[in-house]
Amino acid sequence: MSPDSTHNHPSRKLIIAIDGPAGAGKSTIASRLARKLDYVNLESGAMYRALALQAIENDTSFDDEPALLKLAEASRIQLEPTLGGNRTLLDGKDVSARIRERDVTEAASRVSVHPKVRQWMVEHQRALGANAGIVMEGRDIGTKVFPDADLKIFLDADPVVREERRRAQQKIKGEVAANVAAELRERDHRDRTRAASPLVAATDAEVIDSSSMSEDDVLARIEKLVELKRQQRST
Ligand code: DC
Repeated sequence: MSPDSTHNHPSRKLIIAIDGPAGAGKSTIASRLARKLDYVNLESGAMYRALALQAIENDTSFDDEPALLKLAEASRIQLEPTLGGNRTLLDGKDVSARIRERDVTEAASRVSVHPKVRQWMVEHQRALGANAGIVMEGRDIGTKVFPDADLKIFLDADPVVREERRRAQQKIKGEVAANVAAELRERDHRDRTRAASPLVAATDAEVIDSSSMSEDDVLARIEKLVELKRQQRST
């Protein structure tokens, strides 16, 4: 953390990390929180998705770590926060919708297991958050990307609840909700068991189980934690 004299000023903008498994509600909460605080919301998963799409388009194996790293280094992956959510650009092209499709979702889960790919992502994600005033969500934000984040939230929910939420989201998007449970469990398993920065709550993270909480309740709880942080700064 920066040793400058404004570091503990109560109005200093914070770095907020929100981690957790798929379907726990991270994206919605992170984007609502960022809007309320007038912060920038960055979805780190979109970067893994963009690389996965690049791998699909370049016929690169999801298991070929050196080739994936080369591909990442040769690609321009940009996250553009907008009021309506993050826009993701790959080599200048808006791929925001494409990267949410099923084949990319599956590929992103596979490319994200590789340590060198993760290292490349972490470096770029740190650079994005260099100015603070951000809510970044993902799987390793509190543990690896910003281990010194001002506030770390680990947002969890029962797998059955997460599956139901995913199904509801897919229904809204008009997608066929086949195998939601199996796919989510497989991605969960990969996230939690990979050797490089597996999904785990940071020891100093605030764990919130959203299984029986509304979105508004979760948001209110996090806003209280933000307030508490600010108060701690002013004392
Ligand atoms: O959050 P998401 O579903 O958009 O993430 C896409 C994939 O990227 C997911 O399978 C896990 C991985 N990911 C990761 O390993 N680390 C992050 N910080 C964010 C996402």
